[in-house]
Amino acid sequence: PTEKALISGNLHQYKGFWFPTRYIQGVLASQKHFQAQDTDILLATTPKSGTTWLKAILFALVNRVHYHPDPQNQDHPLLTNNSHALVPSFESNLYFKKQIPDLTSYAPPRLFSAHLPLESLPQSVKESACKVVYLCRNPKDIIVSLWHYTNRLRHRSMGTNSLEEVFQYFCRGVSPFGPFWDHVSGYWKGSLERPETVFFIKYEEMKEQPGLHLRRLAEFLGCPFSPEEEAQGVVDNILRLCSFENLSNLDVNKTGKLSKTGVEHSAFFRRGEAGDWRNCLTAEMVEQLDRITEEKLQGSGLKF
Ligand code: A3P
Repeated sequence: PTEKALISGNLHQYKGFWFPTRYIQGVLASQKHFQAQDTDILLATTPKSGTTWLKAILFALVNRVHYHPDPQNQDHPLLTNNSHALVPSFESNLYFKKQIPDLTSYAPPRLFSAHLPLESLPQSVKESACKVVYLCRNPKDIIVSLWHYTNRLRHRSMGTNSLEEVFQYFCRGVSPFGPFWDHVSGYWKGSLERPETVFFIKYEEMKEQPGLHLRRLAEFLGCPFSPEEEAQGVVDNILRLCSFENLSNLDVNKTGKLSKTGVEHSAFFRRGEAGDWRNCLTAEMVEQLDRITEEKLQGSGLKF
């Protein structure tokens, strides 16, 4: 079954999840053709959770020896490339429209991303020692962010989605790569069962204690910060380089577009804060969503 247009395209239900129809071919092609290597790093996220931000952080982190993230380095790739170009996504870039890319020439560690639920990841990802970093976000902020993003992408002639409309769809599980709760539950369980290969992090945690979580991430990826790097302030340099302030003001992010889908880079930078839902959702909406979240995640130990 398909559902009404959200994010300038239909959503198609496949194996329990709602995939944007235009990405279905990419999803299937990535499942069929992607061959994971043990040194790969895959960033998996729910849409609008800060994927753009964590891509930048991961790129800066694992490439910090080649590209110093200090403010003097005006040649850092993140200053002239959108992070979606540096960390390509399976469904909207590499395998978009059934393309089969040759990824063998990519130097390790290869960095990729996907919005796929854990259940739908290519088999080789699950069978290899490849590291999966999972990022999610409070569903209240995802809804607000998704609402703005949806309307930004929709062609004017298609009209806009009201917040109420996006909200009700989301609550029914109908959102890109949703149901949200099934998506997060899959990776949450994965991180409990296989903590050495699945790292689970929330946008809000990253916002609150970025230094702590960046160091945890570095440990998880097997590239912890050395005492020398700590003394040089490398952690802060990475965070400053990847800050909303810095990235959203770069020319490439103000004017560029994603190569395959044509989405403007600027659409990925709106407010960059936790808690905007307080300005947008009604008390009834909050109550409804809290109830669903509690029901769906009951007993899992995961809370938002
Ligand atoms: P808001 O709409 O709440 O501002 P994604 O990259 O998964 O599509 O998520 C987009 C959300 O991440 C947007 O949230 C966007 O503003 C925010 N974002 C983008 N870059 C960021 C950064 N460097 N730091 C924090 N948040 C960022």
